[in-house]
Amino acid sequence: MFDDPASLMNVLLRWGHIVFGIIWIGHLYFFNLVNVPFQGDLAKELKPQVNPKLLLRAFYWFRWGAMYTFLFGILLFGYKYFHQKLFFDADGGVSNRALWMLFGGLLGTIMWFNVWFVIWPRQKLILGGLAAGTPHPDAAALAATAGKASRFNTYASGPMLFGMIVPNNYAGWPAVGMLVAIILGAGFWFGLIKRSFKIKTVV
Ligand code: HEM
Repeated sequence: MFDDPASLMNVLLRWGHIVFGIIWIGHLYFFNLVNVPFQGDLAKELKPQVNPKLLLRAFYWFRWGAMYTFLFGILLFGYKYFHQKLFFDADGGVSNRALWMLFGGLLGTIMWFNVWFVIWPRQKLILGGLAAGTPHPDAAALAATAGKASRFNTYASGPMLFGMIVPNNYAGWPAVGMLVAIILGAGFWFGLIKRSFKIKTVV
């Protein structure tokens, strides 16, 4: 048992990466598929009572999920592509597998940046103001910017996940197939977001 430390390392890093990825992206989908339509339904006078208590919890898991997914992702990237030397082909060029990884990793990194530097700083002001009983005067503008970044992340998550799973499962998928991944991945989320506004809240 455990006579293959390199494979064990891969499993442990992937386990951490995927567990935190689920925590992060699960909350992203909660915000976009559940919370956006819910906020449209929720009476304005209830927001100060409901939103800080619900959403500050959700944002805790969301932002720290993003941070640890990113850190495990960087470790995996270093381990697989440099320690295990998958970055370059035998002829010295960047491998097709690495191109897919750069595609997924770049999208994931932009999403991580959006969480920490666009969405959370604004939500902190909005929800902090609500919790303190002094709503932020620019709350609507802050929410609009945070909302756009959150929508972007939802659309980007589709192609990003292709970039995560293609390298290890279909490294020969030609790089032009990234266009297909963008269309399929973002199209899927276009459909689900539309659907989210039609979910009935009666049984
Ligand atoms: C934030 C930036 C991210 C970076 C830098 C990153 C990096 C990586 C790397 C280097 C791999 C290994 C790929 C290979 O074996 O060739 C990987 C795999 C993977 N990542 Fe990410 N990742 C990021 C975000 C995410 C997110 C948000 C998720 C969502 C759940 C995710 C899910 C996965 C999955 C499912 C795999 C496949 C594991 C396997 O095939 O065994 N990643 N990632």
